[in-house]
Amino acid sequence: MITIKSEEEIELMRKAGMLVSLMHKYIKPFIKEGITTKELDKLCEDFIIENGGVPTCKGYEGFPCALCTSVNNQVVHGIPGKTKLKNGDIITIDVVIGYKGYQGDAAWTYAVGEIDEDKKYLMEHTEKALYEGLKMVKPGNRVGDISNAIEKYAKKHNLGIVRELCGHGIGTEMHEEPDVPNFGSKNSGPRLKPGMVICIEPMLTFGGEKVYLLSDGWTVITADGLDAAHYEHTVLVTDTGYEILTPRLDD
Ligand code: MF3
Ligand code: CO
Repeated sequence: MITIKSEEEIELMRKAGMLVSLMHKYIKPFIKEGITTKELDKLCEDFIIENGGVPTCKGYEGFPCALCTSVNNQVVHGIPGKTKLKNGDIITIDVVIGYKGYQGDAAWTYAVGEIDEDKKYLMEHTEKALYEGLKMVKPGNRVGDISNAIEKYAKKHNLGIVRELCGHGIGTEMHEEPDVPNFGSKNSGPRLKPGMVICIEPMLTFGGEKVYLLSDGWTVITADGLDAAHYEHTVLVTDTGYEILTPRLDD
């Protein structure tokens, strides 16, 4: 069932989303050569708790940390650890934060120091793919319209689509109905209605589409070892279009 949120629920989801945005803004200056992904995780977990939020990922199906940190060819769900960031890396920070029982979820890929042109291209066009999807969010449109817009944009820019993972509804749970795939046909899937809240999250690669799951049971990597980027917003369907509940404050 796809839930329609009440005004009161939407207000709490705005607060959860704002905490997600504030955390991304907080951590950005720390994303530098030499810091470990575990250190980033600790800074963020402390920030979340000090600001009255709950680090929802920690303990979710056994995931051990507050953040997912995915470096270079890691696509999603990287586990923070001893890995030290190097100049020229890219890292995706994905976080879910709870506030009074409601969840906000957003991922951004960040550059560490100076990155090469290929990585810049991948980041720029993965973020733009998210915005192409967002443009389709309005009442009467269908989930497939979002999926199709992302797929078209990725293909036009020669980027691979990670098909095993997709966006999702969100509310009191991190993952609710509907699934929001990053490929699909126009005019298919559930119809969008005001009060629905969904996460749109293209995961695109610089090469092929095949991915592997590492033996840690979480980290998804590209099979060809090429880089991946991931951008995600939590989005409310409004009467006329959409409202981003996890606005970027870090630019
Ligand atoms: N934002 C991610 C997702 O939507 C994080 C969940 S994975 C977790 O899949 F286990 F770390 F929580
Ligand atoms: Co998500």
